[in-house]
Amino acid sequence: MLLRRCAVLYIEPRETLDFDLTSLLSGGDGLSVQRQWLALAPHIGEEVEIDVAACALLGNISAHTWTDTKNLPEETRLLWRRLLKQGLLIGKGREHAHWRARDERLRELYWHPLGATLQAFTRWQDNDSVQAIEDTGTQTVPEMRQVLGPPPPESYVDGDDEAGIDLPWATGNSFDELLLSRVTCRNFDIARPLPLAMFSQLMQRVFAAQDKIEGAPDTTFLKKTSPSGGGLHPVEAYCLLQHVEGVAPGLYHYDCVRHRLAPLSAPAMPLEELASVGVAYQHWFANAHAMVMLVPRFDRTFWKYRQHMKGYRVIALESGHLSQTLYLSATEAGLGAFITAAINEKPLEEALGLQPMSQGVMAICGFGWRGEVMDTTELDPQNRIWQSADA
Ligand SMILES: Cc1cc2nc3c(=O)[nH]c(=O)nc-3n(C[C@H](O)[C@H](O)[C@H](O)COP(=O)(O)O)c2cc1C
Repeated sequence: MLLRRCAVLYIEPRETLDFDLTSLLSGGDGLSVQRQWLALAPHIGEEVEIDVAACALLGNISAHTWTDTKNLPEETRLLWRRLLKQGLLIGKGREHAHWRARDERLRELYWHPLGATLQAFTRWQDNDSVQAIEDTGTQTVPEMRQVLGPPPPESYVDGDDEAGIDLPWATGNSFDELLLSRVTCRNFDIARPLPLAMFSQLMQRVFAAQDKIEGAPDTTFLKKTSPSGGGLHPVEAYCLLQHVEGVAPGLYHYDCVRHRLAPLSAPAMPLEELASVGVAYQHWFANAHAMVMLVPRFDRTFWKYRQHMKGYRVIALESGHLSQTLYLSATEAGLGAFITAAINEKPLEEALGLQPMSQGVMAICGFGWRGEVMDTTELDPQNRIWQSADA
């Protein structure tokens, strides 16, 4: 039979240290050390523990040309069979279709191998980021300082300070006012629905195609209000709407050309639960009137930037641009906005019906009316949003 190594594979020698009371009582350092070889293959998406013999065999089998197993040493038979089952080796036969399809899909997407690995292995399933902060005792700034020590300084002087040129401070105008009024919102007013016109205006400003350019047959570029690497605009807006007037709570895909919402199937769990799991249980974001999941279609960017070292970085940066445009548009409209990258991507991918590795959730933004009272802290030192008593 014929087999080859999967397209992308990194092997990590991982060392885990655990507290070990027995070691401590017997005069040791109180630590037990565990070492493992872990295979990280993005088309599998789960770490696979392997042994040294498997490392060696995987290193000796091509990922490009097919190897006839007749040419492999007889004593490796059990091993290559196991690796085939695990998906680290790809077989040509029908019984290996499952992993072969996933491996072939990954090959077609033109990921840079490091980018693919980062995307595949940094997705959360059920992470509770609020609990994590509690567990590490870093809820407040004094606690953070206590546990983590002092941070690197907030700014620093570099270059020839003696020859420094003092720049003139400009008088602020309405644009400065807008920039300074941008404060991440962690307090939404769930009792006050967001008018459809406001929701729609924000979507139009931030995510809609403002123009369309036919570069060549079947090769169309869109103009939007945020920049995009290669003008490819791979980031789609998927909405989780909870309090938008005239729109049933649910999941929607936003069609950026037609400025139109298409409902998706209801998620398996209640919508509020998905919203909460999605933002890793950050209750201060979970009830936002409108959440927008920034969902890149990686293959759109990688069509041009094939196996490009900067491809993944470009898409992450673009998501940040969209978020800033959303923040400013929301601020201008008198609304609050947020972004979070502390998200449970896997349940979101499932709920939105995304194809892992072709698409993903890069971050979640949200917007809506601010509440009357600041229950969760916001960074508003100039009291532009909150009166000092609230702050
Ligand atoms: C990429 C990114 C991720 C963020 N993730 C979170 C988050 O998970 N939870 C949160 O409460 N705020 C999050 N924020 C908001 C920051 O905490 C906030 O920008 C920062 O405290 C400065 O406050 P400001 O935005 O009001 O100026 C995030 C901001 C950025 C840019």
